[in-house]
Amino acid sequence: MATLTIDAPEHVPPELVLPFDQLNGPEVMNFPPTAALSMAHEKPVFYSSYYGGFWVFTRYEDIRSIYQNPDVFIQWSQGFPANPFSKLYKPLYLNPPEHMPWRRVLTPIFSPRQMARYEDFVRELTRNQLAKIAPQGKCEFVSEFADVIPGRYTNLWFQPTKPGRYHLFCAEYCGTRHSGMTGEVIVMEPSEFQTWLSGGAPEGSLASAGAKLFQDLACNTCHRPDAQGRGPVLEGLFGKTVTLQNGETLTVDEAYVRESILQPAAKIASGFQPIMPTFQGLVTEEQLLELIEYVKSLKALPQVQPR
Ligand code: HEC
Repeated sequence: MATLTIDAPEHVPPELVLPFDQLNGPEVMNFPPTAALSMAHEKPVFYSSYYGGFWVFTRYEDIRSIYQNPDVFIQWSQGFPANPFSKLYKPLYLNPPEHMPWRRVLTPIFSPRQMARYEDFVRELTRNQLAKIAPQGKCEFVSEFADVIPGRYTNLWFQPTKPGRYHLFCAEYCGTRHSGMTGEVIVMEPSEFQTWLSGGAPEGSLASAGAKLFQDLACNTCHRPDAQGRGPVLEGLFGKTVTLQNGETLTVDEAYVRESILQPAAKIASGFQPIMPTFQGLVTEEQLLELIEYVKSLKALPQVQPR
């Protein structure tokens, strides 16, 4: 049971002690809670003697810098009052250095640039949902709003026993981009995994598999780094702005590379003939991902003239 300690420890200045009970106090029970909370908000930091005592920081900048400094903040319990036996879900509750491998995998997926790709979609979804709710004048927030908006976190553990690459499919008909919800699980031998982790030889990586395909499918006959091929130089292409034959410009992202391979005629790069054959049906989704990763990995070569 939660306990209320009356006295704060001696090192806590008395003017910083506030009777703040974040679980059952009027601060959270009153609606709206703002009035009761304002007392606490006037202080950037205060001490509550509830639940064994704890410090509360109220300023975003302070909280952010504390979170980002593992010397002063580590996660060892989930929730408050502290429960040292609570399960610490990975990677949310990991401290450095354990969280580094997770960050390496997850950060690119959740980068601001990646997130920006979903912005219009999520905004539209949100507006549509609010338009449905508004005439009611009220709603059950979780089931009618929060559950409908994507952005949830789920967690699954298993022990892989067989190295290889495995497809991942969404097992539930979940809505408009269901068919695109595929993924891949790559199971590596521990030593290979260590090499991959340390950023070493990209042996076995998507990009290196793509490099091989690039030869096998003869992409390299038209796309040459020396600009002597019939197709554009792909080195340094990713992230660059290209001009199309119709004068439009676009920034090269995964979607464009994908389309260039599957439907080369859909968007013709300016200065080139539409001679690239389609590879639709010739490459699997997996191979397509490998080719895309390979194109992404092609860094600009200094000697190539910008076109
Ligand atoms: C017969 C020659 C040829 C082959 C083979 C070929 N391409 Fe192309 N590719 C082109 C030409 C020409 C263009 C520019 C015209 C266009 O946009 O369709 C192009 C455009 C592209 C683009 C867009 C580049 C830009 O600057 O906008 C990408 C990416 C691409 N190809 C990747 C590939 C990959 C991957 C393969 C192999 C699976 C491949 N190409 C095979 C000729 C070829």
